[in-house]
Amino acid sequence: MQGTVRVALVAVVVVTLDYHCTAATDSKMPAPWGWRCEDGRCVKHAAAGGSDLVPLNQCKLTCGGAGVLWPLPTSASVGRRVSLFLPHNAALRPMCPAQVCPLLQEAFLVFHDALQRYHPDYTSGEAPWVGPWDAATEAHALVVAVTVEGAQAHLTLNTDESYSLSVNTSADGAVTTATIVAPTFFGARHALETLAQLVDYHETRDALMVVQTAAVTDAPAFAYRGLLVDTSRNFVTVAALRRTVDAMAASKLNTLHWHITDSHSFPLALHSLPNMAYYGAYSARQVYTPAQVRDLVQYARVRGVRVLPELDAPAHVGNGWQWAEEEGLGRLAVCVNQAPFLQYCLQPPCGQLNIANPATYRVLGQIYEELLDIFAPVEIFHFGGDEVNLNCWNSTQEINSWMTANGHGVDEEAYYRQWAVFQGKALQLLQKAAKGRKVEGVLWTSELTKPGRLNLSHNSSQYIIQIWSTQDDPVIGEMLAMGHRVVFSNRDAWYLDCGVGNFWCGAYKGWQKVYDNNPHSIAQQATGSTHADLILGGEVAMWMEFADDNNMDAKEGVRRRGPAGTKPRGTASFLPPPS
Ligand SMILES: *[C@@H]1O[C@H](CO)[C@@H](O)[C@H](O)[C@H]1NC(C)=O
Ligand SMILES: *[C@@H]1O[C@H](CO)[C@@H](O)[C@H](O)[C@H]1NC(C)=O
Ligand SMILES: *[C@@H]1O[C@H](CO)[C@@H](O)[C@H](O)[C@H]1NC(C)=O
Repeated sequence: MQGTVRVALVAVVVVTLDYHCTAATDSKMPAPWGWRCEDGRCVKHAAAGGSDLVPLNQCKLTCGGAGVLWPLPTSASVGRRVSLFLPHNAALRPMCPAQVCPLLQEAFLVFHDALQRYHPDYTSGEAPWVGPWDAATEAHALVVAVTVEGAQAHLTLNTDESYSLSVNTSADGAVTTATIVAPTFFGARHALETLAQLVDYHETRDALMVVQTAAVTDAPAFAYRGLLVDTSRNFVTVAALRRTVDAMAASKLNTLHWHITDSHSFPLALHSLPNMAYYGAYSARQVYTPAQVRDLVQYARVRGVRVLPELDAPAHVGNGWQWAEEEGLGRLAVCVNQAPFLQYCLQPPCGQLNIANPATYRVLGQIYEELLDIFAPVEIFHFGGDEVNLNCWNSTQEINSWMTANGHGVDEEAYYRQWAVFQGKALQLLQKAAKGRKVEGVLWTSELTKPGRLNLSHNSSQYIIQIWSTQDDPVIGEMLAMGHRVVFSNRDAWYLDCGVGNFWCGAYKGWQKVYDNNPHSIAQQATGSTHADLILGGEVAMWMEFADDNNMDAKEGVRRRGPAGTKPRGTASFLPPPS
């Protein structure tokens, strides 16, 4: 979420590059053309056009001042020369507090795996490097010297994700050293992503090349850089979720917002409440076990991504909650799968929690407890909290009578007040489950977050509000005026599910639209101030009514080398710190 697109066009300084295609030493057919960086762009020329022509990859890596670095760092300058090397000669020299060294070593394995994947014939685990290479290429070392200053092993909204990276090559050309210094593991990890973008495959030498010199300093513009996945409308495999995490890591996004459940299905297998998935999953194989969730949380952490669980309530529940009636707890959810749907919800199948049943709160508290355990440590939790249908509650005799018997009345505002009361109880249950740890709650904008409603029982510091209306909606000014911290997911730019036939949110949002959507400018338009203090960041949303494993990668823009789901192998080498 860099907000604006920054394009670097830098005057070209003509230098002699170290490596050219020459038929005598090339292992591959020499190409009849080559590329030259001209005015910050790579331009194709016939081979006869000059001895300074290089392969396309090499030109892109070194052209335009910042090569192919993306998202563009705060400041970057990339030299024009490259050195050839082989991936087994890349080694980590770590300097880190003991709490984060294992994370750093794992992140280096991921980096090392990314190097292997640059090979066009990569299939699984290792690329078929065949050469032949000259002695200099075979011996060239890439030393990655990483200093992590702090011991923080979990992302928070205050984590310093900055880093500096400098790349230098010894005068004799034998060793390229990438020096990374970062206040936290998370900054260091971003630096490894950046370093991976300073490397590419050299197509005529069957080797990797790394730029000989570079200087980068970088820090994210926003603390919260998210992507939502929805695993209720359609089930998504863990392998697909990992691919999304990989892509987020490469783009330095840091929050995987997991909309786990909805009225359609409840795919999360809970130890404490196995009936939820038993009744709620599409099939016995379409579930996430607690062990799989823990694995994914750790997989994401190594890649600089926090997993933010959402249990949407009190609407967007249904399948999964039906077991309780048979067990004598009464109905936990009402209007489940009720038709015609438009009278009871916005999208079939319907369902909403039964606010009149005390058992609803006991079960909700139990779910929160297990969620906080399997997603630990949870620093931010999403309550959902959108699209309550008042008629569903009001037309349910049990709830209508309860409202009257308790003197609440049954008019609109009475129901909104009880929704706010529900939300207050949900917050208390979450805090109880957190056992003294601080957990931030997030809510979608809704009727509940309208001025005067949410604050019937709460104040602005208790919730982060996720805005999903369009960028010209007055709700943006309202949320900021109330002092809420906000995350932008305005659907006119950041809903990736759009673009399916006559689906409600219009055309597919291409990358230009995504990059031009700047929360600070939207706030400026709405309120006259950029509200930098209240805007935590933004999130693109991959709702899955029309998506699953088969097409989510394309909609998210995930591009991957090598076969999906291959795990990095522990073959990278680690050097001792210099004495
Ligand atoms: C709820 O139902 C009652 C009739 O029982 C009706 O008078 C009232 O307007 C309804 N409230 C809402 C919010 O629809
Ligand atoms: C609730 O919100 C309204 C509208 O923003 C505001 O005028 C009022 O002061 C708030 N009340 C409390 C108790 O914060
Ligand atoms: C708002 O809520 C926070 C967190 O619960 C609390 O610390 C603070 O005192 C509350 N502020 C007011 C004005 O009630």
